[in-house]
Amino acid sequence: MSAQGTGIVIAIDGPSGSGKSSTAKGVAKARELRYLDTGAMYRALTWWMLHHGVDVGDPAAVAAQVERPVITMGTDPNAPTVEVDGRDVAADIRGKDVTTSVSAVSAVPEARELLVRTQREVIAAARAESAGIVVEGRDITTVVAPDAPVKLFITASAEARAQRRSKEVRTGDVAATQADLARRDKLDSSRVHSPLTRTEDATELDTTGLTLDEVVALVVKLADEVAAE
Ligand code: DC
Repeated sequence: MSAQGTGIVIAIDGPSGSGKSSTAKGVAKARELRYLDTGAMYRALTWWMLHHGVDVGDPAAVAAQVERPVITMGTDPNAPTVEVDGRDVAADIRGKDVTTSVSAVSAVPEARELLVRTQREVIAAARAESAGIVVEGRDITTVVAPDAPVKLFITASAEARAQRRSKEVRTGDVAATQADLARRDKLDSSRVHSPLTRTEDATELDTTGLTLDEVVALVVKLADEVAAE
């Protein structure tokens, strides 16, 4: 994917709370790359469905509406944005309603097809216009950008992930957060279409016990090595 005149693609997959978003953003800032949070796109689509009263438990109802919202992602890692039909939904998509429903929406094949297409367009534009892009999600190394020269699968222990996510959403209830993460992991890993899986050629990075700076430094080193090849 690093053909002449085109930027690098760093593909990062992993479960919620593994540290992949912070890592992806940190690496993009360190190497002046663009940044794409694909989970935010599934959340934005879910937000639109809920906002328009679509029954997210009904895959056919979701499939019938997927083309309607216009989801626009800003890829500056210093100020990433997410808009639906011109409205800033960055805060709304982190709410409980969206978090509860997003696994159901992201299991709908038509939703995935549409968002994967959009994600590839964003990647192509970034590669043409900049030094490249860091893309994070669940199926980036397997489906969205399987030819990316840098592919990572980021993990952390269930406890560490729950601790981090609790801090992010400012709840002291770590046990409830851990249960919610386990529920989503199960749904995201067992769904029929593009489940979260690690491919053999993705480098696994367990971030339990590492600081964010340490993880970012490791990934930057890996990317620099690949770029120098
Ligand atoms: O990373 P996140 O928690 O914001 O992702 C929200 C949901 O979106 C997650 O439960 C799984 C789904 N997702 C997906 O199916 N494919 C992706 N590439 C990214 C996220």
